[in-house]
Amino acid sequence: MDNKTVYLNGQYLPLDEAKISVMDRGFLFGDGIYEVIPSYSGLLFHFSEHMKRLENSLSSIRLVNPHDRAQWLAILTPLLDTSLDQSIYLQITRGVAATRDHAFPANVTPTVFAMCSDIAPFANQDSGVKAISIDDSRWELCNVKATTLLANILLRQQAVEKGCAEAILVKDGYVTEGAASNIFAVIDGILITPPQGSEILPGITRDVILEIARQNNIPYSEDIIALDALKTASEIWLTSSTREIVPVVQLDNEIIANGKPGPVWKTMNRLFQAYKQSRP
Ligand code: PDD
Repeated sequence: MDNKTVYLNGQYLPLDEAKISVMDRGFLFGDGIYEVIPSYSGLLFHFSEHMKRLENSLSSIRLVNPHDRAQWLAILTPLLDTSLDQSIYLQITRGVAATRDHAFPANVTPTVFAMCSDIAPFANQDSGVKAISIDDSRWELCNVKATTLLANILLRQQAVEKGCAEAILVKDGYVTEGAASNIFAVIDGILITPPQGSEILPGITRDVILEIARQNNIPYSEDIIALDALKTASEIWLTSSTREIVPVVQLDNEIIANGKPGPVWKTMNRLFQAYKQSRP
């Protein structure tokens, strides 16, 4: 195990010395939220947007934010290596209670954990990946970045066992997002992504792509996508902070367009790479 330095409850310490109580509600109930923030050359990308989402997740689970944005920046910065592309994983749980009780305990201090990992270039990004579509079996608060990810991991695992990189989730015939990514499709020349709401995570990469599309006159729309319509798309992409923009070239054993990443992806990926180097 890489014994890197991590942050736990006010201390920087080697990973193998970072320990939490078995009574932590994150461990017992998945009672916590998290963020994943990319960092390029030591600068946290779209830090304010990630902090805004963190604040929303905390208030959705009725947890008081233990730090303000300046304090978070001061906590996370020492974990970064300025010579690498990395991502911060930041988790806050409701903390350690004396007994196991579903209702919130009184007067507990939240547990705060952060670690940093290198962002490895995602395999097959340039040739595209395969995906499956699958019923979205998650709960109704998918806009909250909750650590409770059992449904997501079971869905992703089904994709992996079919030799696919991601599960594309479908609710009532409409696509929501990937198990750990947002989804875009190019249909009739328009870049489409499902609108924000409780059925998807408001992805920061998603917002960056929409901003780049706006700035570069790439026609786009935030609209619902039926699974049938997705199957007619000329391009499908999956987006996240750690994998960036991944083209899907095969969905449920059907080849998308000519089975290669499309021209809109090529343009967007080039613009995204330039954007991420220029804008913290
Ligand atoms: N997940 N939707 C879901 C369900 C996700 O888990 C993620 C990212 C996204 C994309 O959000 P963003 O662009 O802000 O990374 C959408 C992270 C990377 C994870 O859980 O590790």
